[in-house]
Amino acid sequence: MRGFIAGVIITILALFVIALVVAQFGYLPTSADATPPAFERKIAMSALDASMERHAPRASNPLPATDANLIDGMKLYTMNCAVCHGTLDFKASLLEHSMYPPPPQIILDPLDDPEWHIYYAIRTGVRYTGMPAWNMALKEQDLWKLTAFLSRLEKLPPAVQEEWKKAYGVSPESHKGEEHEQHGAHEHHD
Ligand code: HEC
Repeated sequence: MRGFIAGVIITILALFVIALVVAQFGYLPTSADATPPAFERKIAMSALDASMERHAPRASNPLPATDANLIDGMKLYTMNCAVCHGTLDFKASLLEHSMYPPPPQIILDPLDDPEWHIYYAIRTGVRYTGMPAWNMALKEQDLWKLTAFLSRLEKLPPAVQEEWKKAYGVSPESHKGEEHEQHGAHEHHD
């Protein structure tokens, strides 16, 4: 029995050392301009979802979804997020193919997650990706305004749609139901 346990421990240590050597000798790819293979994307995505399920509090938005709050959310989005997640004139982000994993194009392909999920993703970011933890940069209120805006992209009240159209020249209504061409890299997930 002692021999068996020692064998297991030595095997684990050996695998660990091999992994370290592979990394230290530069065998792991580090470029961000590659497309993650489907299996890697799948494993990473379900791990991310499972981690959120486990860690994210089921918080509900403390702010009312007033026109003013949604318009603030829209401005905050334009200033901080559009560079990666796509602009309100319905163009994909310039950086769509420049990150590994690629940033989801939220304006073209709105999220269908609950608010607690979106809020948690914005607040804490996603480790080893380009997604920053915005709680280090924005006020708590602003995180909730962004959450309110992003979770209602397809059902914004008329005054907010009007503001959108004024600022970006395109009405969000006119884009409803249009499919964003997927490039194979980021199929939407829940
Ligand atoms: C520098 C690029 C970058 C910026 C800026 C950025 N994000 Fe992200 N974001 C990402 C990437 C990359 C991912 C995908 C992470 C992954 O694949 O796990 C992501 C993921 C997300 C998700 C999770 C989507 C899902 O399907 O669960 C949300 C929500 C999100 N971002 C919101 C925002 C908001 C709101 C802002 C602005 C306050 C923002 N992001 C700014 C790169 C960015």
